[in-house]
Formats: sequence, structure tokens, C-alpha cells
Amino acid sequence: MTTSIETSFVDNHALMLRALNIGKTFTLHGQGGVQIEALAGVSLDVGRGECVVLVGPSGAGKSTLLRCLYGNYLASAGTIAIRDEAHEAKHVQITGAEPRDVLYLRRSVVGYVSQFLRVIPRVSTLDLVAEPLVSRGVDENEAHQRAAALLARLNVPERLWPLAPATFSGGEQQRVNIARGLIAEHPVLLLDEPTASLDAENRDIVADLIVEARERGAAIVGIFHDEDTRAKVATQRLELRPPLRHAPALH
Ligand SMILES: Nc1ncnc2c1ncn2[C@@H]1O[C@H](COP(=O)(O)OP(=O)(O)O)[C@@H](O)[C@H]1O
Ligand SMILES: [Mg+2]
Repeated sequence: MTTSIETSFVDNHALMLRALNIGKTFTLHGQGGVQIEALAGVSLDVGRGECVVLVGPSGAGKSTLLRCLYGNYLASAGTIAIRDEAHEAKHVQITGAEPRDVLYLRRSVVGYVSQFLRVIPRVSTLDLVAEPLVSRGVDENEAHQRAAALLARLNVPERLWPLAPATFSGGEQQRVNIARGLIAEHPVLLLDEPTASLDAENRDIVADLIVEARERGAAIVGIFHDEDTRAKVATQRLELRPPLRHAPALH
């Protein structure tokens, strides 16, 4: 990683995401300003067709890193840049981007699948899964057809499709969440334990979908709690360790 962020997306056509020396420190304002260093000096490059699997113990900062990459948390140090697919050789620097640029990236470039579905009351499963396509201008009928095909592949029973997922089981909600996250075929995908509450059969289906995304050229960063899934999807691994925590100063 010797080239700067400025030239790297021009020089390397496969590069989709570059993070350099990311740090993230949380300040707990309600608790005497105690500081928690969650990440320090983390760098990664992700190219088209690559899947970087984040490994490390609970509390190592894996989810925090994904949230920084998505622009959900602002990194305290370092730079994150993501290729802007619509504009040849351009990139958006997430660290320091305007909110509208972050929203543009999320609609067009970066998809994120969290561990839990954020349920929107009264919106049917089919509409929820189709929505990322509809918001990108895909015809509603076609969006519904693609949503149905993906839900069927993920073994979400058809009788559930007209219902809002609020009452679904954890595993059903997780599969709806995955369908919503994968349907728009974003060029960059961030996956935070998308298989944590699935049985082995459905976990394999999700792993197949992730490999298919990779094979169509998606650049993926993911966290997977089981070694089987990691082994299937990973092209690289990045080990995170909890940084040395700074004890609060004694007065
Ligand atoms: N919003 C937050 N506020 C304060 N501390 C946080 C926040 N999110 C994460 N942390 C802390 O950052 C560290 C890393 O957490 P996390 O990224 O969730 O780890 P992992 O996903 O590897 O288990 C933990 O010590 C956690 O308590
Ligand atoms: Mg986590």
C-alpha cells in the first residue's frame, strides 16, 4: 500500500475500497468521559471479486470497522475511500464526506447487512426486499419478481411474503434482511454476521449467494461466526485484535 488514496483508484482498476490507518475511539460522555479505543491502525484494500473476512475475538472491533466503512461511525483517525462506480476512476472519501454523498454511495455502491433486521411496521416482506431496487428506478413488477425469487431461494415461505416481518422468527428475519441486502447487487457489500441465527442448510444457501456476488465482481468485507462459511467465502482474512485499552486516569 504505497500509493496514495488520490491516485490508487486510477492506478488500480480492480480496487473498490481502501482504508488506511483507521482508528476509532469512543468517548462515553455519560460515564465520566471514559475513552474506549475500539480500533487502531487498521488498513485494508478490497478489490473486485474479493471477500475479506474479519476475524478476531468478540470486542476486537470487527463491527466497528464495518460501521466506519459504511459511514455509520466516523473514524477518529485514518482515511476510507470507496470507488464511485458511476464516475470512471473517481472515489468518495467516506471520512469527511457530506451526508448526501454518503447517501448516494449507499444507494448506488455500498450495501450493508446487519445482524438484525430493522423492522419497518406495516411494510410487507415483499416490498421491504424489493425496495432497494425500486429506489434505484427498477420497475415495481420486476422488483417484486426478483424479490420473490430471492425469498424463495432463501426458503422464506411464500405465505409470509405479504406480511410485515415483525412477528417472524429470528432466522426468518435474518433471511429477509439478507435478501434486502443482496437484491440490488451493490458493487461493495459489508456483511455483519448475516448467518448467525441460521441453520446449516440456510447458512449454506447464504454462503452460495455470497460466492455468487463475489463471482459477479462484488468487493465484500464480512464477519462470519462459523468457520465453514468463512472457508467458503473468504479470499483473504484480516485479523483484528482489541487495541490496548487505556485505563481512565486516576485523580
Ligand atoms: N457505540 C459504541 N459506544 C461505545 N463503545 C462501543 C460502541 N460500539 C462498540 N463499542 C466498543 O468497541 C469495542 C469493539 O466492539 P465491536 O466492534 O462491537 O467488536 P466485535 O464486533 O469485534 O465484537 C468494544 O469494546 C465495544 O464495547
Ligand atoms: Mg460484532
